[in-house]
Amino acid sequence: MSNTRKRIVSGMRPTGPLHLGHYFGVLVNWVKLQEDYDCFFFVADWHALTSEYADSSRIKGFVPGLVVDWVAAGLDESKCVIYQQSAVKEIAELHLLLSMITPLGWLERCPTYKEQKQQLVQKDLNTYGFLGYPVLMSSDILMYRPEAVPVGQDQLPHLELCREIARRFNFITGGDYLPEPKDLLTPDAKLPGLDGRKMSKSYGNSIGLGESMETVAPKVMGMLTDENRKRKSDPGDPEICNLYPYHKLMTDAETCAMIEKGCRDTSWGCVDCKKRLVQSMEAFLTPLHERRAAIENDPERLRAIIESGNAKAREAARETISKVRELLHFDF
Ligand code: TRP
Repeated sequence: MSNTRKRIVSGMRPTGPLHLGHYFGVLVNWVKLQEDYDCFFFVADWHALTSEYADSSRIKGFVPGLVVDWVAAGLDESKCVIYQQSAVKEIAELHLLLSMITPLGWLERCPTYKEQKQQLVQKDLNTYGFLGYPVLMSSDILMYRPEAVPVGQDQLPHLELCREIARRFNFITGGDYLPEPKDLLTPDAKLPGLDGRKMSKSYGNSIGLGESMETVAPKVMGMLTDENRKRKSDPGDPEICNLYPYHKLMTDAETCAMIEKGCRDTSWGCVDCKKRLVQSMEAFLTPLHERRAAIENDPERLRAIIESGNAKAREAARETISKVRELLHFDF
């Protein structure tokens, strides 16, 4: 990895197996970024604890599972650093130090804080840790002094807070040691769930990255198409069909053009369309399944990916934390 490349940092919470929505929403972007940037991609296990603290036993199993999903999706440990947040204790120290300079009002005003507290009423989110989530996220980021952070729209308020914290740190310490990271906004998810709503495991409308064709094929055959098209002889509209966005992402352009025309002029029916999507889905998933099988059959390699990533992430973190200690006069 050359040192002249710009650095980026991003993380994901280990809350269960990833699906196609994650792939087309986030991972496809990460896989591209690893070619051009010095990438730090981490499993945000401490973040998972902010909402799962009452039953944290599942997080442990989801950590290696998430890395398997990433490798299956095409992240390559020789091109990026893959690590586990909680393996870098320096992040906890930075979190503590930054918490001292972060005004409460900034956190209380955070829109995601207000929203989630209202929405997740079944969990008691009246905790110090949950309020401080953006400080922890800022520590994840500022630790690596990155040029930018690839995030979805929903994370923009956190990134804005991160910049404000960096600015305040720089003001207090009279310098510019912590650069304000830019956002590399991931375009909104291009792939709806099987029923047209947002793809989510809890809605039961998702296709897991590790799912075999035996379960994927019947899911595809059961998808809703343009509801106004009751018979094949009714003209359809690909723009309001749930299948078509899948074709656009997984089927070649020429076939897509044929599908679009055939749907409108009724020469092409929904059943044919689904069968064709099963084919595309298989072609898309096969390399992911192959990479998954390879890593699952080689637990030593999985362990080595995480351990060597952790070591690299710690090395970079030590450099930052020692400078931060010095700037705050905690370098005894
Ligand atoms: N908050 C992010 C999410 O829920 C995960 C995350 C934690 C993150 N730390 C980060 C993302 C740092 C980017 C950079 O999706």
